[in-house]
Amino acid sequence: MKNFLVVAFSLVAFCQSNYAQKALDNKMEKKIDSLMALMTLEEKVGQMNQYNGFWNVTGPVPKEGDASNKYEHLKKGWVGSMLNVRGVEEVRKVQKIVVEESRLGIPLIIGFDVIHGYRTQSPIPLAESASWDLEAIEASAAMAAEEAAASGITWTFAPMVDISRDARWGRVMEGAGEDPYLGSQIAKARINGFQGKDLSASNTIAATAKHFAGYGFSESGRDYNTVDVGTSTLYNIIFPPFMAAVEADVKTFMNSFNILNGIPATGNSFLQREVLKGEWDYKGFVVTDWGSMTEMITHGYSKDGESAAESAANAGSDMDMESYLYVKHLKNLVNEGKVSLDKVDDAVRRILRVKFELGLFDDPYKYCNEEREKTVVGSDKNMEIALGMAEKSIVLLKNNDQLLPLKKNGINIAVIGSLAADKNSPLGSWRLASKDNTAVSVLEGLKKYKGNKLSYEKGVELVKGQETFINELDINTTDRTGIAEAVEVAKNKDVVVMVLGEHGFQSGEGRSRTNLDLSGLQQELLEAVYAVNSNIVLVLMNGRPLTINWANDNVPAIVEAWQLGSRSGDAIAKILYGDYNPSGKLPMTFPKNVGQVPLYYNYMSTGRPSNPGDNLVFWSHYTDEANTPLYEFGHGLSYTSFSYDKLKLSANSLNKTGELKVSFDLSNTGKYEGKEVVQLYIQDLFASRARPVKELKDFKMVSLKPGETKNVSFTISAKKLEFYSANNKWEAETGDFKVFIGGSSATQLESDFTLKN
Ligand code: BGC
Repeated sequence: MKNFLVVAFSLVAFCQSNYAQKALDNKMEKKIDSLMALMTLEEKVGQMNQYNGFWNVTGPVPKEGDASNKYEHLKKGWVGSMLNVRGVEEVRKVQKIVVEESRLGIPLIIGFDVIHGYRTQSPIPLAESASWDLEAIEASAAMAAEEAAASGITWTFAPMVDISRDARWGRVMEGAGEDPYLGSQIAKARINGFQGKDLSASNTIAATAKHFAGYGFSESGRDYNTVDVGTSTLYNIIFPPFMAAVEADVKTFMNSFNILNGIPATGNSFLQREVLKGEWDYKGFVVTDWGSMTEMITHGYSKDGESAAESAANAGSDMDMESYLYVKHLKNLVNEGKVSLDKVDDAVRRILRVKFELGLFDDPYKYCNEEREKTVVGSDKNMEIALGMAEKSIVLLKNNDQLLPLKKNGINIAVIGSLAADKNSPLGSWRLASKDNTAVSVLEGLKKYKGNKLSYEKGVELVKGQETFINELDINTTDRTGIAEAVEVAKNKDVVVMVLGEHGFQSGEGRSRTNLDLSGLQQELLEAVYAVNSNIVLVLMNGRPLTINWANDNVPAIVEAWQLGSRSGDAIAKILYGDYNPSGKLPMTFPKNVGQVPLYYNYMSTGRPSNPGDNLVFWSHYTDEANTPLYEFGHGLSYTSFSYDKLKLSANSLNKTGELKVSFDLSNTGKYEGKEVVQLYIQDLFASRARPVKELKDFKMVSLKPGETKNVSFTISAKKLEFYSANNKWEAETGDFKVFIGGSSATQLESDFTLKN
């Protein structure tokens, strides 16, 4: 009875809230209607136009050139959004122009790349993804949103939900790695974090699912390059995180720079009209990527700017980021009947809706509060959140003879590598609102532990000259000064901590690499130090998987510390000293050789997957490298050890409406309390489209005390077994499946079941 009442009450509450929501929606739609009725075509087109920040807004007004055009357009109400204007003072200034000087005073939505923090930097997204900790990831995004919103920003161009299997592509640092299931969960967590429960609250901002679609599959990992993928990969691998974003009510999408199967994403009706706004019934708006409308000309798709604008508008690109083509051509295109007024109205309605939801029509300056900006941005509380996230993001790749954790007292430690003292690299590449050189370095973090004697030598310089977000880096490949000193310092020490990898500006947009080794002269430095002292803890600082075979073969302990943000060094020191037991797991496969790339765990079997014996070559392999990775997806160790046992399935079959319980025992067999991310994979053994050898379908984080055992369970339903089939629909097909359980994609336990009708 009690349960019945609870259910009945919640049903009433649900209906009421649904009813209330509908009433609110109707009210908003009516407001949008009334506003649209007042707007001229030029003003409508204006809402579809987004400009980059263009002059020091707090300085004199621009008199000539591009900047003065933009200024005039703001006054005319021909600009719907600006990006890269930030800080309350600047935002207030531009908002004031449109609100007070344009005819209708429609407020701007202010966009910015708040990728893994605003002032306070959390770890880069790939690193955060290694935590597999959805709550922590959501909290980190919420923290970023709070700071950005306090600085006048109302819209972030994040999360990037592009799946990528290619570590050569520099932007893997910005995503959640290679897996569509993990990527989907993380996409939702980030969106929930940014947007919160109430978009009109002063600490939440609109999010963007980007880049739609296929950007992570650029040929040969070269940024902006051609993408050519078939239906199965597009639907089963690339689309799921975008679908999850729609489910999480992400307010905007950004399309991508690339051509997808011959058609640029910005002019791609199939992607934007048929799939996104059609099949998925998406109600938010789509912004183009920076200048991507103009780039349709260089792609060899559009004849000129006018035809690019025509294709983009017809294909469902609602807002033009920095191509200036809608503002130039869209009015004429409508008057000539090449783009229907309905399409323009639809785009404008979508944009206005987000502005209403943000509360900008109630108060255009609601995100412009100097006091809040001062207290929130870079606050101690946020720095603690960044530290917590950083600890969770670290992955222990190798730990022979329990070299780690380090003793806290009485040992002599050499710390080597320019990255050990680097306060800039840990901030990553997307950190435009943070201040340069403000991360806690590894050296600073280690120094806070006073019981040991530390000696630091940089070894070799990693880069020469300037380090900026926009320019090429000059990597040092010739100057060996410092190697001899580092070798000298390493001699007779109990342990050598070497911090090596990539500079913070070696990954990110426009930063593809063909070589994934430790960059510059760092490998040489590592080997020289190893020759005098092999007791090395290698701390990797990097934005993508690296090929570190030599280190894996020789160095006893390896810690993947990515670029961990503002509190990087503190988190690393806590891990090295065992004040935090590592629990991260790789969200991307580490190859042995760049020639294996793209390399990923959820590959398809070939017809000839294994060696037929007798030294025959006719099987799918390389003659000079194994097929297997260096570290598989999902890999990550702890200072304790876990064992998996007693896998049990509640039945050996399930039907399409039923469920199957998969349970097993997880034991902590080591000396430390620890957390393990347990992973459930399946394999659909035969299907209308061949399925991968393994697919992640669920995961959980389990904490165990030393000696403790817990029974852990997962539930499998037909929903989990769905894929985009040869019938071109999402369905689970009957047949035989395998189920795997383990602490990585290599998995420890295995069983099977059948799906019946
Ligand atoms: C990137 C986007 C980013 C935009 C605005 C582009 O170059 O591809 O991801 O949001 O710039 O800064």
